[in-house]
Parts: sequence; structure tokens; C-alpha cells
Amino acid sequence: MMTMGRLVNRLAAVLCMLIASSAACSPVRAEDGYDLWLRYAPLEGEALQRLQSFNPLVRSDVQSAQGSPMLSVATSELRVGLAKLTGGGPPTGNESRGLVTLRCGQSTAGDGRFTVTGSPREITISGPGETSCLYGAFALLRELSLGRDPAMIALSERPAMPLRMLNHWDNPDGHVERGYAGRSIFDWWRLPDRLDPRLIDYARANASLGINGAVVNNVNASPLYLTPRYLPKLKRIADAWRPYGIRLYIAARFSAPRDVGGLNTADPLDPAVRGWWKAKADAIYAAIPDFGGFLVKASSEGQPGPQDYGRSHADGANMLGAALGARGTVIWRAFVYQPENRADRTKQAFDEFKPLDGDFADNVIVQVKNGPLDFQPREPFHPLFGAVPKTRLMLELQVTREYLGQASGIVYLGPMWEEVLRADTGHGGSIAQMVAPAGMAGVANTGSDRNWTGGHFDQANWYAFGRMAWDPSLSAKAIAQEWTALTFSRNLAVIARIVPDMLASREAVVDYTGPLGLAHQMATGHHYGPGPWVCDLPRADWNPCYYASADKQGIGYDRTGKGSNALAQYAPNVAARWADPAQMDERYLLWFHHLPWTYPMRSGRSLWHELVAGYDRGVARVDTIAANWAALAPYIDAERHTDVAAGLSSQRREARQWRDASLAYWQSRNGLALPFGTRAPDHPLEWYRLETTPEAPGR
Ligand code: GCU
Repeated sequence: MMTMGRLVNRLAAVLCMLIASSAACSPVRAEDGYDLWLRYAPLEGEALQRLQSFNPLVRSDVQSAQGSPMLSVATSELRVGLAKLTGGGPPTGNESRGLVTLRCGQSTAGDGRFTVTGSPREITISGPGETSCLYGAFALLRELSLGRDPAMIALSERPAMPLRMLNHWDNPDGHVERGYAGRSIFDWWRLPDRLDPRLIDYARANASLGINGAVVNNVNASPLYLTPRYLPKLKRIADAWRPYGIRLYIAARFSAPRDVGGLNTADPLDPAVRGWWKAKADAIYAAIPDFGGFLVKASSEGQPGPQDYGRSHADGANMLGAALGARGTVIWRAFVYQPENRADRTKQAFDEFKPLDGDFADNVIVQVKNGPLDFQPREPFHPLFGAVPKTRLMLELQVTREYLGQASGIVYLGPMWEEVLRADTGHGGSIAQMVAPAGMAGVANTGSDRNWTGGHFDQANWYAFGRMAWDPSLSAKAIAQEWTALTFSRNLAVIARIVPDMLASREAVVDYTGPLGLAHQMATGHHYGPGPWVCDLPRADWNPCYYASADKQGIGYDRTGKGSNALAQYAPNVAARWADPAQMDERYLLWFHHLPWTYPMRSGRSLWHELVAGYDRGVARVDTIAANWAALAPYIDAERHTDVAAGLSSQRREARQWRDASLAYWQSRNGLALPFGTRAPDHPLEWYRLETTPEAPGR
């Protein structure tokens, strides 16, 4: 029988379909995005009937279930999820017709592998440890939310890599570096007395994806996190996250023994320093027995590190590794560049880490950004992947969109990560294979905004990161389909409208910010908007002009043997792929080559005309995405539809600004006319130079 509430909803939906005009009559109740992909929106039609007739009772076969916080998270998630999906309350014993049985080992260890097997009367979730039931429960709810037949469910999954982590660049004062979703979710001031319930919802969202670790503070780390005052705060969070399978890590400031330890050195070979870290680790483990370990940014961008004492990265990392012992992991970042100038900074990580291959302790992992520069809209993959076979490497992605429009509009990063994970390193495997023994980290995009991520579609990036870390063979497309169905609508026509635009959105941002392999063309400081003309920063390689190297004759950064020879850091067969501008994938052209503006492209156009076409394509794509979204108003709840539309309107303006400012600047270098019929920039170059946005967030 249809309840009154559902009847009203149904009538409203029918009315809306008939008048299909205003967002106000959106068929779906207003939503603010807080529930992420865990909305469990009531099923309809056949899927609803199937689940209603199954109407399962959830029970756990594990004797200690009552006493197991993780199993009680799994069972209560199932109860709540099933109730929401069927639009009713949870079944009582008498009404239930089916059973969902959790049959997992009691160990809290284990990699989380699970099977979920459906039959007409029972669905069983099983696996060797409690995380099996946790992940299995979320996987089952995902399947059911997607409308799958309970009797036909047959999942057998295991994570592709052990560490699936988020890195928060959050500071003790609540500011999030490169954060575009408000203040930090960590309220260090009120902790440990008050734990924001949001931290539980955060853990739940992560657990639903299989994310199993989080670094709670910025890699540009404050030493505060290593003081005794912070330990109860950290413990409170770690205790809250344990039932969700999330281990807590902190970013450790290398100079902490000096900063807060009363020593006069942080030299990793100094016995007093080593003793300080060991005592610190012991104190942490006494409070947090499953503490994950330390993430370290050292000897990079002015951060302290072992090189301050003439020691190597391995000396520094192994010293911390010894302090943690078998209890935890040191994740040492390979994003290194020195404050002093040097030729082609993209080469530095390889130059410093390649000779150390084999020198790192067993509990040390080296974390490498996807590309050798810095999370640009497109970079070739980092040459360290595959090149250091005796070192465990972890892939670092940026979920927050520092260089890709921050939180406005739609930029779905799935296609970028698919490109990275599937890249053939030339060393006998893809990047996904190279990082399988260690894992993946994503620089989080979460904040205290009601919808968590600033833009609603940025939730998809959090989601895709987790799904790909669990299973890198999943396609960006499949993930987008799944996320759209869970987040917005199960209507296949709506999904078919949204997903192609999500997939195209990454290429759009590449096109309107810098096509054909251009990179680092953004404004200084906040990294929002264009700044290709910037050429006066104290360090050559902070300047966009340095990366484009545009002059009267040509454009592009020569990384061949005639230039910086960064190409030689790749495996020979990969380097060969990018060596010849006439043969290579033109999406990377100007990353590796400096070419004349007249250079003939494969399309038959000159390089200059091709570049212009790229910017125009990007702008046009965003216009199309915005128009398609506008047409979806009758099918999306009004609140989220309006929010996304507002974001797209910003993105349309940004795309134009990037295109116009860049073209005006390139013309000032090359003196060339725009191709016939091309729209001229709206303003002269000077206007764009003066159009600064000092209030842009997230520095
Ligand atoms: C980028 C980013 C910084 C960050 C750095 C890093 O350069 O702009 O804010 O600290 O990456 O990854 O360490």
C-alpha cells in the first residue's frame, strides 16, 4: 500500500512532468547535498517491489556482534539503508521475509575482501575480517540503490592496494590550504571534549568507498600535532573512526624535535633526535594503538628536512621508520624542490630518489604526485613510477581542484585519474600495477560547507578517488554513472545526459586553461584564473612565462636532449613515444617541445591556429554543459540544481576569461592575427593583467 507521503510525492512528480518548467516544482524533495552518495533515495517500480517482497531482517552470525563496534556500524547501516530504500521502517521479526546475514571473521585485521551472495530468501555478506562485513554492507546497499535484484547479487571483491587514503591539508586554525569548501572539518579548538558528528559522517562516507586512512593535517605541517596537548584530540578522532576502518595519520614536521622537543637539532642521525621520535611514537601508540603513521614533506619548498643536515631522504625516512617500527608506516613525499633555482624542477624528484632505490626501510613508502610538476590539468605521468623497483611507491592525486577551477562548475577528475592509472610506465606495467603494493592518496576536497566539497559535482571526485583506489580497473564512466544514480537520479535519461558532460568536463578545463600540453599558466598565489604574463617572480620556475617560453618565434618547454632532457628520465620506449613532435600524442606536445607558431599540426592547422581552436573548444564545451544542466531542472531537486547552475555560470565566465586573457597574451608575444572568424578577446591584455582576484580562497 502506498503511504500518504509517497502518494503526495508521486502526484507532485506527475504534475512536474506535465508542466516541466520551473525548478520550484522539482519532483524530488529539496536536498542540500549533505547525504552525499548515501542518500538511499526510495526505490520505485519493480526494484521497489522486489526489495519490499524481500523485506529482509538484518542479522549477524558473529557471536560478538553486540560487542563489535564495526559490525554494529555495518548492521545499522544496512537497517537504515534498507528502510530508506523501501521508503518504510525496518522490518520487525514477524514481517520479515528475507534475511541479510553478516558472516565475517572477528579479526579487525584483514584487507577487507568480501563476498555478497544473494538468493531468493537470503543475502549473505562474508569474509575473513570485520572490515569484510563493513565494506560488504556498503557494497550491498550500493547495488540495491542502483536497483539491482537482491536475489541476483553476486559480488566478490578485494581491494587492489592496501592503503587508500585522504590527505587533508588542514591547519590547526581551521584554514584549509587549497581548500574551497569552507573551513576545516577538524575543530581542534573544541576537541577533545567535543567531537563534531560530522567526523562520523565523514568516516561513514569514506568507509562506503573503502578509504581506510586519513592524514588529518597539512603536509606543510605545524609541529603542534606532535605536542602532548594534541594527543587527546587525535585520540578522540581515532577512536571515533576505528569502527569505520579508518586509521589516523598525521603529517609530521621534520624539525619537531627542535620546534617543540627542546633539542637544538633535528639531524636524523643524532641519537637524541632518534630517541625523541621513538619516545613520541611510543606515546602516540599508548593512546592510539592503531595509529597509522607519519606523512612527511621534507626538504621541499622551504620545509625542514634531512638535507638541512647533509643527510638523504632515506636517512630521514628510515629514522622515522625506526621510531614507528612494525606498528606504522612512514609516507615520505617525493614532491621536492629546493628554494634555490635550478634547471627544470620537474627533474628533481627523479634525480634525488632514483639513486636511493633500495635504501628505504620496509615500513617506508614514497608518495609521488601523478605528474612531475604539480597537479596541473594535464601532465605526463611522473617518471619515478616503475623506475625504482626496490621502493614502494604510492600515487598522490589531488581531489581538491587547485589548478582546475577550484570548486566552481563541473570538473570530474575520473578521466584524469583513469589516464594516470592506466599509463604504461614502460617498466613492465601500468601505474596502477606499480602502486599496488602500497596505495593511493588523494588531497581531500572536504570542508565544513553543508555539501562537504563546495560544488555538488566535486563530491564525484571524492567518490571516484575512493572507488578507483579500491579498484583501479573501474572506468571513469562506470563510476560517473554509479555516482549520478546514487547522488541525483536513477532515471536513465538523466544519467545519459549528465555522464557524458562529466566525462567531457576534464578535457574542457584542459582546453580553456592551456591546450596542447601547456602547464602552469595560472595566477600567482591562489592559483585561480589565468596569469600567463607573470614573469617577475623571484624564482624563474614560479613564473608561468618560464613554462610556456613563448616568444616571437614559438612556444613550449623543450624537454628533449636539446633542452632540459627530462625526457631521458622515462623508460626508453616511453621517451621514444614523446620524442618526435610529428608522431606523438599532441595533448603533450608543448610539455616536451618548443615549436614555431607555424608548426604544422596533424589537423593541417598551424600550431597557433590549433591552440586557438583548443581554447575555443573548451569554452564551447562549458557552454554546452551549462545548457544541458539547465534542461535538467525538472528532474533534479531545486536546491542542488540551482547551486550547480550557479557554479556553471561562474565556470562559463572563468573559461572565457582564461581563453581571452591567454589569447591576448600569446598575441602580444607572436604578433599574429587570430584565425579568420575567431572572436577577439573581450578586452585588451592590460585589462586582464589588472583583473586580479585577491579574495580568491584556499591559499
Ligand atoms: C602545491 C601547492 C602547495 C602545496 C604543495 C605540496 O605546490 O600549491 O600549497 O603545499 O603543492 O604538495 O606540498
